[in-house]
Amino acid sequence: MIGTGYVGLVTGTCLAEVGNDVLCLDVDARKIDTLNAGGVPIHEPGLEPMIQRNHEAGRLRFTTDVDAAVAHGTLQFIAVGTPPDEDGSADMQYVLAAARNIGTRMNEYKIVVDKSTVPVGTADRVRETIAGALRERKLDLPFAVVSNPEFLKEGAAVEDFMKPDRVVIGADDERAIATMRAVYAPFQRNHERLLVMDVRSAELTKYAANAMLATRISFMNELANLADELGADIEHVRQGIGSDPRIGYHFLYPGAGYGGSCFPKDVKALQATARQYRRPLAVLEAVERANEAQKMRLVEKIEARLGSHFSGRTFALWGLAFKPNTDDMREAPSRTIIAELTRRGARINAYDPVAMGEAKRIFADRDDVTFANSPMHALHGADALVVVTEWKEFRSPDFEEMRRTLRQPLLFDGRNLYDPQLVRAAGLEYFAIGRR
Ligand SMILES: NC(=O)c1ccc[n+]([C@@H]2O[C@H](COP(=O)([O-])OP(=O)(O)OC[C@H]3O[C@@H](n4cnc5c(N)ncnc54)[C@H](O)[C@@H]3O)[C@@H](O)[C@H]2O)c1
Repeated sequence: MIGTGYVGLVTGTCLAEVGNDVLCLDVDARKIDTLNAGGVPIHEPGLEPMIQRNHEAGRLRFTTDVDAAVAHGTLQFIAVGTPPDEDGSADMQYVLAAARNIGTRMNEYKIVVDKSTVPVGTADRVRETIAGALRERKLDLPFAVVSNPEFLKEGAAVEDFMKPDRVVIGADDERAIATMRAVYAPFQRNHERLLVMDVRSAELTKYAANAMLATRISFMNELANLADELGADIEHVRQGIGSDPRIGYHFLYPGAGYGGSCFPKDVKALQATARQYRRPLAVLEAVERANEAQKMRLVEKIEARLGSHFSGRTFALWGLAFKPNTDDMREAPSRTIIAELTRRGARINAYDPVAMGEAKRIFADRDDVTFANSPMHALHGADALVVVTEWKEFRSPDFEEMRRTLRQPLLFDGRNLYDPQLVRAAGLEYFAIGRR
C-alpha cells in the first residue's frame, strides 16, 4: 500500500483484516514511526483496534523502505495524495513518483492499482512511467495498471470499506481483473457489487460521484438562502422533496458549505479536465461559486445581527473538523469562518471533540484563537455561539445553561441542528440556514 493516509491506512488495514499480508509504505517517517509504536496518526472510528489486531498478527506492517514495498507484493496500490495544482488540476507528482519507484525496482509481474482520485488518462501515464523505467533497465517485464477509485467516507471509512456500496474496477487485463475480484470477494459475500469497466470510465466515475454530491449540497444551500428571503422553512422543503424516491434524502442538508480533502479539490480538478477538452462544466462552476459564498453565510448572519465590527467580541465556536467523526480540517468551513471573524477583530474560543489537536497545529501562532475543554466552557465570555460541525454531542445541549453562560443569548447554527421553537423558548435568539 503506497501512501498511508486516510485511504491507504484504511484500505491496508481492512485488507489485512480479511487475511492478506499487507505492507504499508509512506515517505513520511513520522507517520510510520507512530504506527510502528502502536499509535494511529488519524481519527477514524473503529480503525485503531483493527490496526492493533492485524499488526500484532503480523499481517499489517509499516515501512519507509521503498525496495521492501516493491518487493513485497504482486499488488501495488497507489493511495498517495493528489492535491490541487495552481490551476485547480490534480497534482500528479506523488502518483507518478510512486509509479516510477515501482518501475525502477520491480523484478516480476505486478498489478499496479490507482486508488488515489486521479484525472482521466492517469492510468496511461502510470503505464508509460513504469514502461519507461523498465526500458531504462533494459527489462521487459509484464505488468497491468488498474483503476480502482475509492468511495469511502471519512468518519465512516472502515465501515464503508468493509461493506462497500460498489467496487469499481477499471481494467482491460483479464488476469488483473480476476485478481481484483479475489481481493474484493471477502467484502461482498452477500452479493457481488463489483463493477468492471474500462479504465477511463472508472477514473471519471469517481469525479462524477463527488461532483454530483457537491451539486446537491450547493443546490440546497442556494435554496436555503432563498427560503430565508421568502419566509419558507428549508427543513420542510427538504423533507418534501427527499420523500420522492427519484430524489432521496441523502445529501440534501443545507449548511455552512462543503469542505474536506475531496469535494473542493475534485470539483476543481474535474473542471480543469473539462476546460482542457473545451467542454466547460457550467453546472459545476456554479456549484463551486455557491459553495465559496456559503462558507461566508454565517458571518453574514452575524454581521446582520451584530454589525460589521467585531473587535472586542468573542465567539464560541463548536466544531472545527470539516464534518463529524474525523479530525480532518482540510478546507473546513470553520477555517474560513475563523479567518473572517478574526480578520475583523474578533476572538474565537473553539471546541471540537477530536480536531482540536489539528486546530492547535493550524492556529499555533495565534493568540486570538483559543480552545475550550468542553462545549459549555467555550461559551464563557462569548457574545454568541456559532455551530459549524454537526457532531452528535452538540445535538441536544442544555439551552437554559447556554443562555445563562453566553454574554448575549445568540445562537448561529450553521448545520440546522435545533428545533427553532425549543431554542427560542429557552430565551435564545436563533439564526439557522433557511429556517423560519
Ligand atoms: N480522504 C478521503 O476521504 C478520500 C476518499 C476517497 C478518495 N480519496 C483520494 O485518495 C487519495 C489519498 O487521499 P488521503 O486523504 O488518503 O491523503 P493523505 O494526504 O491522508 O495521505 C497520502 C499519503 O501519501 C504519502 N505519500 C506521498 N507520496 C508518497 C510516495 N511517493 N510514496 C509513499 N507515500 C507517499 C503521504 O506522505 C501521505 O501520508 C487522494 O487522491 C484522495 O483524493 C480520499
